[in-house]
Amino acid sequence: MNTVKTVLELRAAVARARSEGKRIAFVPTMGNLHAGHVALVEKARQRADFVVASIFVNPLQFGPSEDLASYPRTLAADQDKLVAAGCHLLFHPDVEEMYPHGMDSQTRVSVRGVSEGLCGGSRPGHFDGVATVVSKLFNMVQPDLAIFGEKDFQQLAVIRTLVRDLNMPIQIIGEPTVRAEDGLALSSRNGYLDAEQRATAPVLYRTLTQMADAIRGGERDFERLTEQGKAMLQRAGLRPDYLEVRDSHDLRSATEESRQLVILAAAFLGKTRLIDNLTFEL
Ligand code: PAF
Repeated sequence: MNTVKTVLELRAAVARARSEGKRIAFVPTMGNLHAGHVALVEKARQRADFVVASIFVNPLQFGPSEDLASYPRTLAADQDKLVAAGCHLLFHPDVEEMYPHGMDSQTRVSVRGVSEGLCGGSRPGHFDGVATVVSKLFNMVQPDLAIFGEKDFQQLAVIRTLVRDLNMPIQIIGEPTVRAEDGLALSSRNGYLDAEQRATAPVLYRTLTQMADAIRGGERDFERLTEQGKAMLQRAGLRPDYLEVRDSHDLRSATEESRQLVILAAAFLGKTRLIDNLTFEL
């Protein structure tokens, strides 16, 4: 696997693969790779001949009081994992390469509708930062397909909408969340948890599964259900940010008629913000 740091080198390497008739898959990440990322790269390997991954901790998608400075940067270990998973090319630009004219004057991409509420509500500007960097990365790599984890369910919806609305000829594939044995969704931010918090954290997924069971059992008072879910999180020591039942195909609030549902949650455990979601059909 080759690691390149500039757009010029990236374009040259991708052009070479293209000229050999290869189908290009792209897996954008912020690094500190875990088994969830590895699953994305393995899926990319199955679907394409040439796999490009990126590692870039994108300042544009972090709020002023968020964890940009402390976000784990583990390049050497990440490179080993990417090689083992079958990645061919790693793009690892620095901030100046991605934003050579500064971030303030950077053209922004803003996806309306699906960016609003949920994580978009509690992290203002976050999805504009994601949509902007992903648009830039898509234009740099020009892949045939790109793979994202379903753990960031709203992000995946934002990217699907972006690609549709801006007519980008890129197939977007969502890959199911990889979980620890106790149910906790794998996330780079799980590394912030101390042992006691790590033992508590699976309550987030348990809450989602209990809520889904209740809905499958006929419960349709989503407001009451989410209040009960939040109380369950609070009893365990989490501070709920949001907990909502939505329609999984357009992210609108679920109604009694909704058949494809997603329950989405974000909650703080100490200073760590955990997110998770559960999709199901009735
Ligand atoms: O999901 C992530 O790791 C990031 O939001 C992404 C898609 C790589 C954009 O920076």
